[in-house]
Amino acid sequence: MKKIAILTGGADCPGLNSVIRAVVRKGMIEGYVVTGIKNGWLGLVENDMRILDLRLTSGILDRGGTILGTSRINPLENAEQIKQITENYKRGGIDALIAVGGEETLKIALTLHEEGRIRVVGVPKSIDNALSGTDYAFGFDTAVNIATECIDRLHTTAESHHRIMVVEVMGRYTGWIALEAGIAGGADIILVPEFPINIQEVCDSLKRRHQRGKSFSIIIVSEGAKIIGYLDKRTEVERRRFGNVSEMVAKAIEENTGYETRVSVLGHIQRGGTPTAYDRLIGTQFGVKAVELVKEGKFGKMVSLRDNKLHYVDIEEAVKKRKTIDMDLYEMSKVFSA
Ligand code: F6P
Repeated sequence: MKKIAILTGGADCPGLNSVIRAVVRKGMIEGYVVTGIKNGWLGLVENDMRILDLRLTSGILDRGGTILGTSRINPLENAEQIKQITENYKRGGIDALIAVGGEETLKIALTLHEEGRIRVVGVPKSIDNALSGTDYAFGFDTAVNIATECIDRLHTTAESHHRIMVVEVMGRYTGWIALEAGIAGGADIILVPEFPINIQEVCDSLKRRHQRGKSFSIIIVSEGAKIIGYLDKRTEVERRRFGNVSEMVAKAIEENTGYETRVSVLGHIQRGGTPTAYDRLIGTQFGVKAVELVKEGKFGKMVSLRDNKLHYVDIEEAVKKRKTIDMDLYEMSKVFSA
């Protein structure tokens, strides 16, 4: 029997388990043995894998995270690990690998595929929705819903205390979560990495809103947004850990306007818990499609969603450039800004 392996790499996100479940179901129907690799690429390095069956993958649709575990290792930086991956792939009798992940996981998959070490089909996941080649990467809808609910909750406390609330969401390079949750939650100002922040403009907008009688405001900011004229010497990792941008924005607002301001960094809450129905649905469709691509020998390809239809693209197309926010949506959001 032919063997498909599946791994989930990089950051986890809600919906991964629906892909795993779908790959096992469809794989078994098509006559494959499906093996699950533990902890992303690390599992291939360490030869940590086990055969998956219906029992092991039942009842997992509503579970966030990934039953396979994940890691952020990049074997391309380590020749020994590349060797181990190649050997374990061969020794494990694997015919094709389904790599479920974001930019980094898919870049690794593509390189190993191009070097002839593994045969791979990619499945796009990203709470940031920043992968090109697909209209949608699962995980994003859940993140947007969580962030929207948080904005709803912050509204009431902001209003009671007549405060400015700065809500920081994930998105290092693109502002998809901030934009969509900001619109859905009725944020007054949306700040995204695609456009550097002009603090003076933000403060002027807040003052105009106050003059109109609104004594509170909600600002949503992506973690990767940059403030014009502010030189941040911290590394990207430190910035993320300290939720730095929202604090800088809040401080500048208080100094400039005198309005009392508070910060909420949503962080990994956006990646945790139950996936939305949409992410389960897309994850399931992606998993089934990935097995079909394996069966058709379409290696080096990634499952993709275009105009609500399942397609596939070269993995290369998905990783060569980040998908930035939809400019029409961004322009529209200004109708509702402070
Ligand atoms: O890539 C997904 C993501 O959640 C980003 O939005 C965020 O910047 C990053 O991962 C956080 O990474 P970690 O879980 O390693 O802290």
